[in-house]
Amino acid sequence: MKDITQFTAWKALQAHYDEIKDAQLKDIFAKDPQRATRYVIEFENNLYLDYSKNRINDKTIALLLQLAEEAGLKNAIEDMFNGVHINQTENRAVLHTALRAPKDAQLVVDGQDVIKDVHEVLDKMAAFANKVRSGEWKGYTGKPIKNVINVGIGGSDLGPKMACEALKPFAKKGLHVYFVSNIDGFHMIDTVNELNPEETLFIIASKTFTTMETMTNANTAKEWILRAFNNDAAAIAKHFVAVSTAAKEVSDFGIDTNNMFGFWNWVGGRYSLDSAIGLPIMIQIGPENFTKMLEGFHAMDEHFRKTPFNKNMPVIMALLGIWYNNFFGAQTYAILPYDQSMHRFSAHLQQVDMESNGKYITKDNNEVKWQTGPIIWGEPGTNGQHSFYQLLHQGTKLIPADFIGFCKSQTPTGDHHKKLLANFVAQTEALAFGGIFEEGATKNPAFKPHMIFQGNRPTNTLIADELTPRMLGILMALYEQKIFVQGVIWNVFSFDQWGVQLGKVLAKNVLKDFDANDPAKLAHDASTNAIITRLMERM
Ligand code: F6P
Repeated sequence: MKDITQFTAWKALQAHYDEIKDAQLKDIFAKDPQRATRYVIEFENNLYLDYSKNRINDKTIALLLQLAEEAGLKNAIEDMFNGVHINQTENRAVLHTALRAPKDAQLVVDGQDVIKDVHEVLDKMAAFANKVRSGEWKGYTGKPIKNVINVGIGGSDLGPKMACEALKPFAKKGLHVYFVSNIDGFHMIDTVNELNPEETLFIIASKTFTTMETMTNANTAKEWILRAFNNDAAAIAKHFVAVSTAAKEVSDFGIDTNNMFGFWNWVGGRYSLDSAIGLPIMIQIGPENFTKMLEGFHAMDEHFRKTPFNKNMPVIMALLGIWYNNFFGAQTYAILPYDQSMHRFSAHLQQVDMESNGKYITKDNNEVKWQTGPIIWGEPGTNGQHSFYQLLHQGTKLIPADFIGFCKSQTPTGDHHKKLLANFVAQTEALAFGGIFEEGATKNPAFKPHMIFQGNRPTNTLIADELTPRMLGILMALYEQKIFVQGVIWNVFSFDQWGVQLGKVLAKNVLKDFDANDPAKLAHDASTNAIITRLMERM
């Protein structure tokens, strides 16, 4: 059994933590100001990671790198890229990296030319996206499409929605992309309410095409379209396309499989943004920009695969995360982009990270004796500063955070961006070095200890020149690979998600109970029976 707490590096890190745990960043910086140039990684002279404001020294980094070696990270990376079935509980390869590989790359996995398959779908998506964007694709009554509604949930929603928001400045004017995910009827009805069905196209996005939320919403959308066009089933072909791995289910739903964009079981839902699940992104920003995004993903993949670990951005970020999660006992991790268009970035990464590494059983079927994935959360700056930052600065919990900023604004407006960036910089300074918010305050008789900022709160700063499709791809791949590294070290399977299954099964049982509407026949625990009964009486 692989017990990572028995690794030489783990034990050394434990001892090292005792040496360093009380050290203050302000003292560390005073003794070693060069760390600000030493603890930096530069990617393509564009994305800059400063990790100097972490509670680390050279020994910490050396030991963390040793941990990565002991965990077999090098081989694990190659196994993933080469299509080994590393998702063992589902006996699947994990090949989202192939989704962004260039056309001339070579990869045959399980007898299948993966790169050829990927590019065939990308070409089909591009042809379709161009038709919709140019107005060549017409609705049932001959009108061009003005509204695209993606119906999906989880990985079939969060990633594309995040990217469509982040890349809005690249969107085609007059073409609106919406996302409906929640099974709460409000979401669909509120979205279609003011839309003209003649100009509306639905993308039903579901890897399995069985997800309760998505299929319920898809059926409501189908009724909405059929109602608008005298129940003529021919309207379906004009107003529905599907993105899925499940051709039979798509065709059973009534969508012509010619209007289906496929992907493969080796693409995890939360890693599918750059597969056909990205169709709404491609429709919004165009195939050329979509290709640039894929190139960004690929560039970061190459960096990850080929760069020595001490200069490898995802590896270093993963190791720092492990340092706080497993040695400082930090329970959560904040991701704080200083860019309003990135307002769904943390939400998307929350799924990617928590669904991947929220596991308590190791690859060799034992219960872990160490902490695994942290709670990931965040909101864009500066909004968060006026809601939860109080706790970051003066709360009792250690919350490591990534601050992400862009030198140039997507929407230059007066001095907004300068002020945004001033806040971006000020926050990590305050978190690291603390202080008293007013010069000379201690001499004021009204001074209270509540006004002291202790500092010593660790952060990473990521700065990119500009938020472009390529940069979004780079950032996404950075986090995907960071999460992969952590899963390897924690020895968990990062690419299954059994933990969400039980709730799905039980929801179906409760639904049957609702339909039977007979409190006497309920066979749950006493609390659940009482809750179901109350709901049946009053719903
Ligand atoms: O319930 C979790 C999950 O399986 C996610 O992993 C996935 O992204 C989401 O549901 C949606 O699944 P599908 O694309 O098959 O509808």
